[in-house]
Amino acid sequence: MNILLLGSGGRESALAWKISQSELCDKLFIAPGNGGTGAYGTNVALSPLDFEAVDAFVGANGIDMVVVGNEDPLVAGIYDYFAGKRPGLLVVGPSKAGAQLEGSKDFAKRFMTAHDIPTARFRSFTQETAEEGCRFLEELKPPYVLKADGLAAGKGVLIIDSLDEAKKSLREMLGGMFGKSSATVVIEEFLKGIECSVFVLTDGNGGYRVLPVAKDYKRIGEGDTGLNTGGMGAISPVPFADETFMRKVTECIIEPTVKGLAEEGIIYRGFIFLGLINVEGEPMVIEYNVRMGDPETEAVMLRVDSDLVQLMKAAAEGDLGELPLRHNPSTAATVMIVSGGYPGSYPKGKVITGLDKVTDSILFHAGTKKLEDGTVVTSGGRVIAVSSLGKDIADAVGRSFKSVDLVDFEGKYFRRDIGRDLMNLK
Ligand code: AMP
Ligand code: GLY
Repeated sequence: MNILLLGSGGRESALAWKISQSELCDKLFIAPGNGGTGAYGTNVALSPLDFEAVDAFVGANGIDMVVVGNEDPLVAGIYDYFAGKRPGLLVVGPSKAGAQLEGSKDFAKRFMTAHDIPTARFRSFTQETAEEGCRFLEELKPPYVLKADGLAAGKGVLIIDSLDEAKKSLREMLGGMFGKSSATVVIEEFLKGIECSVFVLTDGNGGYRVLPVAKDYKRIGEGDTGLNTGGMGAISPVPFADETFMRKVTECIIEPTVKGLAEEGIIYRGFIFLGLINVEGEPMVIEYNVRMGDPETEAVMLRVDSDLVQLMKAAAEGDLGELPLRHNPSTAATVMIVSGGYPGSYPKGKVITGLDKVTDSILFHAGTKKLEDGTVVTSGGRVIAVSSLGKDIADAVGRSFKSVDLVDFEGKYFRRDIGRDLMNLK
């Protein structure tokens, strides 16, 4: 089959790498792709949000399946667009209604409440109810968690220690701090624990498979300090997500989610990302996303031993049947190399050297661009995800660090403590 993958990050590099290994894949196109995805297929200069241009490409190139890497096209309704226009085309991803699990935090919280899925206590407020919001804050203990309802490029969550600051931020958010995204603000209880990311592929008819579990490292600084980023590294598997924990995740979270979507008549044939927190052994949902995680995918794909195309095709057709999703027992570690200055402003166009010296890891390009003469330069904050398999965390992460040392560009930065917190944790 001919496959079109939408997106341009490290996640899409890892998906493209995996898709290109499938016997079912004839041609793979990545739109728009990056400086590395050309190794797995053909980059196409298309915006995933320009549905008409995507449609024209699908028609002209005999595309059988569209895999949507990031949330924006899903929240904007790409599934519904093609369901109406090209009923035979397989689209991996939820309908617009399903994408609300990520597109609206208020929707996600109400969904969880309706289906008894464990999550932090919450209430939602608008400009009209701002004073009630302040009173709700007074009922909670610090720190206070304030979330913009809509998509805010990963920046819409504030965690604030002082009550006065929290009230001030609530008013600012409702006043447009994140534009329309924060016209509604979800205030919720703070949960203490360690987070992990669980990925599920569902066929929308009760069938689902759980992918390898991962943990990502969101802060820019070592020891989880400094600003939030898109993710500085990932480890899979996660030692504390053992059989007992995962049984609870399956029973209390995955099954009610899949069943709840069906009960509400929401079409969902694609990946569900459960952002979980382990609160004294009990999994609770911090957030849903409607796509795979980045950089988790760059670790998780190394541990998927089954044919991902076969699985995605079956999910998009609405019947996963008995298809297995086998997990490789090794450990995967991803270390993200970023541009100096990220997540603030950073320069672009820095020449990257040493890429051909790496043999022990896979380099999943993210913010890179290949020039006509073959030179690869930086073009984003997160530049390259360096992923390795090993016998345990220390081994896998050690291999990635050795490979990271071989790659260079002006201003290169990475975290040297990826996985360290998990090494003694069971
Ligand atoms: P979200 O965009 O909802 O994933 O939130 C971003 C980050 O904020 C999460 O990954 C958590 O680290 C943190 N966070 C969100 N909600 C809570 C909560 N209720 N308690 C503690 N931390 C939270
Ligand atoms: N790694 C978190 C995310 O993809 O949203």
